[in-house]
Amino acid sequence: MKVSVVGTGYVGLVTGACLAEMGNDVLCLDIDPNKIRILQEGGIPIHEPGLDLVVARNVKAGRLAFTTDIARAVAHGTLQFIAVGTPPDEDGSADLQYVLAAARNIGRLMTDYKVVVDKSTVPVGTADKVHAAIADELAKRGSTTPFAVVSNPEFLKEGAAVEDFMRPDRIVVGADDEQAILLMRALYAPFSRNRDKVLVMDVRSAELTKYAANAMLATRISFMNELALLAEKMGADIESVRQGIGSDQRIGFHFLYAGCGYGGSCFPKDVKALIKTASGEGQDLKVLQAVEDANDAQKMVLVDKVTKRFGQDLSGKRFAVWGLAFKPNTDDMREATSRVVLEELFKRGATVTAYDPVAMEEAQRIFGKHPALSYADSPMGALQDADALVIVTEWKEFRSPDFAQIKASLKTPVIFDGRNLYEPSIVKASGLDYLAIGRAALAG
Ligand SMILES: NC(=O)c1ccc[n+]([C@@H]2O[C@H](COP(=O)([O-])OP(=O)(O)OC[C@H]3O[C@@H](n4cnc5c(N)ncnc54)[C@H](O)[C@@H]3O)[C@@H](O)[C@H]2O)c1
Repeated sequence: MKVSVVGTGYVGLVTGACLAEMGNDVLCLDIDPNKIRILQEGGIPIHEPGLDLVVARNVKAGRLAFTTDIARAVAHGTLQFIAVGTPPDEDGSADLQYVLAAARNIGRLMTDYKVVVDKSTVPVGTADKVHAAIADELAKRGSTTPFAVVSNPEFLKEGAAVEDFMRPDRIVVGADDEQAILLMRALYAPFSRNRDKVLVMDVRSAELTKYAANAMLATRISFMNELALLAEKMGADIESVRQGIGSDQRIGFHFLYAGCGYGGSCFPKDVKALIKTASGEGQDLKVLQAVEDANDAQKMVLVDKVTKRFGQDLSGKRFAVWGLAFKPNTDDMREATSRVVLEELFKRGATVTAYDPVAMEEAQRIFGKHPALSYADSPMGALQDADALVIVTEWKEFRSPDFAQIKASLKTPVIFDGRNLYEPSIVKASGLDYLAIGRAALAG
């Protein structure tokens, strides 16, 4: 099938590459010439495990190409995926300007039947707006070219995006146009070989499903984070509690880890947008508001632990920070807890030596040449001259460090662990203080 993907970011590039992998003829469009140049020169503008190989293979096979030429992209695909960003507007609602600009471009230039697929995460009712924008552009030039708008939200996780796209749990298709449903079923048939994973539903339910999924996952995290704070106060261990409740099949183990707050490009903005959508309908989503408030507070937990130990005035103190990305296996730092931690440490006069396996370039872009921030080229390198170690992202390479070496390197033998990476008794046996999340019973 001929597919165009509008927006070649995390979702658009993975979608384009994986659809090409299944034999489709895919053209990816972006308005960012730099991104397209990198891709045309054989590079990958983001860090996503395995994506480089899929992209290279399909470019070589002639099934995947990249362009900034809007007219070429509109002419190319019968299926036009919109995978542009939907960042939060000032009031927290999803900013639809990029989605609607992409829709208008399609309406302005299309000359044959198109299925326009909303893959971006968009509030309920957006497909109607996309439909209206395209219809308006067609009307301006007196065209009656037929088209359909489909909602096909994406559930991939950054860091495992290729695997998630190739082996999805489900594929949600919101549509009421029979021809469009047939095309979507055909497109996704190779991804549903062991069972039919395509769930066809009405457009509004599909749009809401995406927000509901992210809101549920964020709720589990904030719930565990609040319980972790309580566990600390009451001398309980959140890890034992996690195992105690996760083993209940009605609850399950996924997304039940306490930590220093969720970040990323999706949970924070989608939780905000769903709250805003609901308030537009006169409904307060009280649970979700609490989820967001709890998460904002949780991003301060590490800083609170640091100031409790070293005082509010941190001038003259240097902290080693392990992990900048909002989660492992990505260089994405959107809404990352590390950003709050670094800003709060700087505010109090501290300096930081940070290490992250892939996100240091992104951090340099965000923080610029910050006088209080330097980078190390290894985890142990970050400890040099540091007063203490703060762990913000659970990269695998942080999981089994040489605790004796950490103790010998730090001026004060203390680890603030925002991701509960270690067995407290092992850390303590090395003579280090270990301040993790909700582990007071064991860390002492
Ligand atoms: N990142 C994720 O893990 C993830 C997962 C599921 C869903 N989503 C959703 O998918 C959407 C895209 O997210 P992302 O992380 O890929 O964003 P991104 O910022 O990485 O990529 C968006 C791209 O769209 C381009 N763009 C903007 N307007 C354009 C236009 N008119 N024409 C062509 N290109 C245009 C931008 O230049 C950018 O490269 C969002 O709605 C997001 O919520 C993201």
